[in-house]
Amino acid sequence: MDPNEAHRILEEERARGLALIAEATSMDALEAAKIAVLGRRSPWSEIQRSLGRLSDADRKAAGMLANEVRSTLEAALDERRAALGEVEERRLLDADAVDITLPGRCPREGSLHPLTIVEHEVVEVFTRMGYRVAEGPEIEDDWHNFEALNIPADHPARTMKDSLYVDVPGLLLRTETSAVQIRTMESQQPPVYVLAPGRVYRREAVDATHQSVFHQVEALAVDEGLSFSDLKGTLEAFARAMFGENRRVRLNPDYFPFVEPGAQVAVSCFVCDGVGCRTCGNGWIELLGAGMVHPKVLENCGYDSERYTGFAFGVGVERIAMVRYGVGDMRLFLEGDLRFLEQFQGVS
Ligand code: FA5
Repeated sequence: MDPNEAHRILEEERARGLALIAEATSMDALEAAKIAVLGRRSPWSEIQRSLGRLSDADRKAAGMLANEVRSTLEAALDERRAALGEVEERRLLDADAVDITLPGRCPREGSLHPLTIVEHEVVEVFTRMGYRVAEGPEIEDDWHNFEALNIPADHPARTMKDSLYVDVPGLLLRTETSAVQIRTMESQQPPVYVLAPGRVYRREAVDATHQSVFHQVEALAVDEGLSFSDLKGTLEAFARAMFGENRRVRLNPDYFPFVEPGAQVAVSCFVCDGVGCRTCGNGWIELLGAGMVHPKVLENCGYDSERYTGFAFGVGVERIAMVRYGVGDMRLFLEGDLRFLEQFQGVS
């Protein structure tokens, strides 16, 4: 190879290299161009070898040009890398950019479930009277759900047909919030004024007025000197607070093993005021079971039944909500249909 030939090849390589570098439009493409221009397998290695075959004087001149071409190519690579880096950065920034002129997206507003609204209201009425909220587990044992509540071993509620049992012997899903009465009395001494809202489970044939999972609020008061008239007065105060000042309360005798005497409690219909209408049928709306705590139940919890007396009642939350909102089918409350639930937006 003569010096002119070497000069030509080097200039050609400079032009080829600069073109390849200029064509690269991404960091990856630039990396490929770098390998093609200066990499081990590029013509560049071959050129270096051929320069070695020139005479000393020619090699010096060609070597200087080779160094200059190489520096030019390296500088071009650096420059292109910087330019592409800026483009890439801008692209990433653009991808992240927030257009502050766009209208905002309004989050969907949630609201309390109607059963929660009713439960809160019941709790509020009683906390104003000095009651506090108590809780118990939804999976109960035989003692708290039956035995201590004076529900004898042969009571039909205990059969597999009426209650929902779990796989562990002796445990079941609580059938009424009355189980919390026992847990409360076991853990504290009188006076007791508690309210226990919660979910209960029964093996029911589901229809418009019966669910197998529903909610109750239990109230329990135990103190010295409490009588049936205290129960009646409390129920009247409750009915008026929930359904209006003119409500009257009616108690019919009923049987619950854990109270004596026991009563089924109805309030005068708030639509027809006791005359009889489509909402109530006969003028009265049955709401809850109630009674004076059975002395045996007090004794089961270690209370002196000669000294203390108490009353208790358990009300169905779905039942109150039906009456309250004029809903004819209890199942609507538990189906989670937003078209139904949205109607309670803003109610509190
Ligand atoms: C009881 O559960 C008693 N524990 C109430 C009680 C407490 C009595 C304290 C005495 C002293 P009952 O099974 O009647 O009683 O249920 C009470 C209320 O729960 C009913 O008035 C009704 O409003 C509601 N309820 C009962 N069964 C269902 C059901 N399957 N679906 C929806 N609500 C129900």
